Amino acid sequence: MSHTEWWASESFWRKTAIWVTAGSFVALIFLTLDSMSAITAGSTRVPAYSVINHRIDYVFDEKRNFQVPVIGVEEPLFGKTLTEAEAEALVSRGKLTTQAKNCMNCHTLLGNGAYYAPDLTKAWLDPSWGSKEVREQMMVDFLMNPQDRLHNGLGRRMPNLGITEDEARATVAFLKWMASIDTNGFPANFTPIDQSDPPAESGSPTQQQGG
Ligand code: HEC
Repeated sequence: MSHTEWWASESFWRKTAIWVTAGSFVALIFLTLDSMSAITAGSTRVPAYSVINHRIDYVFDEKRNFQVPVIGVEEPLFGKTLTEAEAEALVSRGKLTTQAKNCMNCHTLLGNGAYYAPDLTKAWLDPSWGSKEVREQMMVDFLMNPQDRLHNGLGRRMPNLGITEDEARATVAFLKWMASIDTNGFPANFTPIDQSDPPAESGSPTQQQGG
């Protein structure tokens, strides 16, 4: 029986294969759990659903050198502050609507989908909605009946998808929540709608309603 070098022996390579497979398996489980925690609502990058009770902005961050979502003052969607459970139910309904109506067939969401229509990641912050006062209703109206308006300069029209008012409102909640997700600066160079408050009345800051 001839002597084989250790690196040429069959048993060495069999053991190596087993250990590499086992090691990769453990690494995969770890990475899966890590990804799950990073994409779960309520984590650092993906805010809890009740974030829709707040103003969401998209502001340049000097340190990170790109725009990041900033959660601001209370600004409840449709003027109604929701509990965490209510917000989750509404956002989930909106997400289901985007899946049922296959918005990704034309749009990208967080960069995933088709390139026929604009990316929806920051649709909530699109200046085309006019002002923050009319935005929510404009969005609901658009989703229910998009055909008769040319929303932006794209020159393509969105078909009527038979979205009910409840579905439209839930979809707006989903879009508002999506705008709060930290996407490492995607989309870049995006100018959000002006959400600043009108300047305070002149006079002393402590002044309440005048006489
Ligand atoms: C058949 C293709 C198609 C499908 C499906 C579709 N859209 Fe659109 N959507 C468009 C086009 C085209 C535009 C641009 C319309 C315009 O500029 O007038 C648009 C525009 C929009 C806008 C305005 C974008 C912005 O930047 O403010 C929103 C919001 C939107 N769609 C949401 C949705 C949602 C939510 C769904 C699924 C429920 C959906 N769309 C499904 C084609 C589609």
